[in-house]
Amino acid sequence: MSGVPTSDVLTLAELEALAQAQLPEMAWDYYASGADEEVTLRRNAEAYRALALHYRVLVDVSVRDLSTTVLGRRVAMPVLVAPTAFHRLAHPDGEVATARGAGEAGTVMILSTLSNTRVEDVVAAASGPVWFQLYVYRDRARTEALVRRVEAAGVEALVLTVDAPLLGRRVRDVRNRFTLPDGLTLANVDGDVVAARGGDVAESGLAAYFASLLDASLSWRDVAWLRARTRLPIVVKGVVRPDDACRAAEAGAAAVVVSNHGGRQLDTSPATIEVLPRVADALAALPGAAPELYVDGGVRRGTDVVKAVASGARAVLLGRPILWGLTVAGASGVAGALEIVRRELDLAMALCGCAEVSAITRDLLG
Ligand code: FNR
Ligand code: LAC
Repeated sequence: MSGVPTSDVLTLAELEALAQAQLPEMAWDYYASGADEEVTLRRNAEAYRALALHYRVLVDVSVRDLSTTVLGRRVAMPVLVAPTAFHRLAHPDGEVATARGAGEAGTVMILSTLSNTRVEDVVAAASGPVWFQLYVYRDRARTEALVRRVEAAGVEALVLTVDAPLLGRRVRDVRNRFTLPDGLTLANVDGDVVAARGGDVAESGLAAYFASLLDASLSWRDVAWLRARTRLPIVVKGVVRPDDACRAAEAGAAAVVVSNHGGRQLDTSPATIEVLPRVADALAALPGAAPELYVDGGVRRGTDVVKAVASGARAVLLGRPILWGLTVAGASGVAGALEIVRRELDLAMALCGCAEVSAITRDLLG
């Protein structure tokens, strides 16, 4: 927001430090937090550091192609923008800026149900594909109306998040009594507001919102329910187990995201990169065409993208780093964050002996 030139920022860690300095504490805490002791939050990132890359030599890497496809759409690199809530806490242009930045970087933006900007405005501003992350309301008529609306707006896939029957307990949000500032609403869901109740007992207003309106009874049957109500491909986001990934495939998912919600839901769940190879193997063993497989959580380096792809992911999703870019410089900050990763990935692929994404195979992990 202060116009810090993102060209001076060399790593996502530097971008994060700039964002922290600019954000009000309640917003920083909400974005940065994990659940409980934040064991999983840390573990997601540390598990990438712990893996070694067994690079190949004497491969012609003078020309490199980082592009791939997701759900049939070409993207500039195997890095997508994860759905995250409330982008106007980071920047006045909010989700419109994120969509522009993602488009500039040649990739997909996944818009959260809990956005501060109407889906129609986000799709209108986007130059690349927009997918919509769906939270299912107890009021199914409301959920169906939302699905109809995002279809009409032109989103290209529905990302059904399955790891949040209730919101994980983010201690900082409870202490801060997290609430959306006046004027910010949930623009896709009738302008709902997020407010903490007053009184002696501290609570996160968002956790209260989840508990009162979202459907904790969601089950595998509901994936079929959704399947029957939309022509859009369904991406199931938030699994860490091979059996759950296979059930998602059986339920007709076009893609599965191995995710623990960036360590914000069940603390001490495994790091996503740890479980990814087993999930990939289970899906590969299914008869018929397997859903595409993506992963998120703790991806902060080009080498992390290589490790995720080597472990069987078709693409990764970036969560918090996008919010840091958005905070620091709006749309160009989002594009800047993605450019940092693109450059690192390009170099990592060259040094691994991979001229294209399809050359990133499991043997690179030793
Ligand atoms: C999220 N995430 C998320 N997921 C989702 O399905 N719907 C949502 O509205 C949100 N909101 C959200 C807000 C914030 C502030 C964060 C940090 C995360 C989870 C997100 O899609 C993704 O799984 C993680 O952010 C990936 O981890 P990293 O990249 O942040 O480590
Ligand atoms: C979060 C929700 C909104 O992680 O998914 O805060």
